[in-house]
Amino acid sequence: MADFAPVSTAEREAPAEPPPVQAAMDAPMTADMVPAEDFAEPAPAVIAEAPIVAPARDREAAIAAMDWPALDAAVAGCTACGLCHTRTNTVFGVGDRQAEWMLIGEAPGENEDLQGEPFVGQAGKLLDNMLVSLGLRRGRNVFIANVLKCRPPGNRNPEPAEVEQCEPFLKQQIALVRPRVIVVLGRFAAQSLLRTTTPIGKLRGTVHSYEGIPVVVTYHPAYLLRTLTDKARAWEDLCLAREVHDRAGAQA
Ligand code: URA
Repeated sequence: MADFAPVSTAEREAPAEPPPVQAAMDAPMTADMVPAEDFAEPAPAVIAEAPIVAPARDREAAIAAMDWPALDAAVAGCTACGLCHTRTNTVFGVGDRQAEWMLIGEAPGENEDLQGEPFVGQAGKLLDNMLVSLGLRRGRNVFIANVLKCRPPGNRNPEPAEVEQCEPFLKQQIALVRPRVIVVLGRFAAQSLLRTTTPIGKLRGTVHSYEGIPVVVTYHPAYLLRTLTDKARAWEDLCLAREVHDRAGAQA
């Protein structure tokens, strides 16, 4: 679109018609004259926005039109943020692509980065047990993904710009799976997906919605490994998720 077309550095820095330098220097300065440096400045708002907004929208639209193979390839080759320089593997997600359940974590850790699969470390073992308690198994009727597809170095928290670049991938995964229920694991994933700063304690216990799909929030398995006393609460969350799943099935 014309109004979003990027403007080259040269175009931005050079006025279209250079002022007649000699005449300007010779003429006396008057109050209505614009200082010379203002000629060098572009109209700021439109030009500053153009290169950022339009490509971001185009990228989101392109991702939203992808099928599984295209999405897989786009994630594998993604260089949209700095994490591409430190990752070993991208971690696309794993499981049944027509699953009724979708589980969403935060980001790959060290083991996941090495193996290219989500939740393969200690937290993953607990997650597998959580799945069993729901009558599920990794790869059968459940798809597991993360908000970020690349590991933040040193397991630091993901940065907002990284989440922003990665979100279209997750959004499209959810659109392709179209699960009956999404279970979000941990504060970070919950707050990112639901675009809120509400603490996890307040997000638990109610059914939220993402793109029309019911969302239940529970604790991250890594947190549960450290805080055994909250396992009972996590069990309550899974019971709620099962209820939501069954209800959605009855309506289908
Ligand atoms: N923690 C997550 O949130 N995701 C993983 O894949 C592994 C650990």
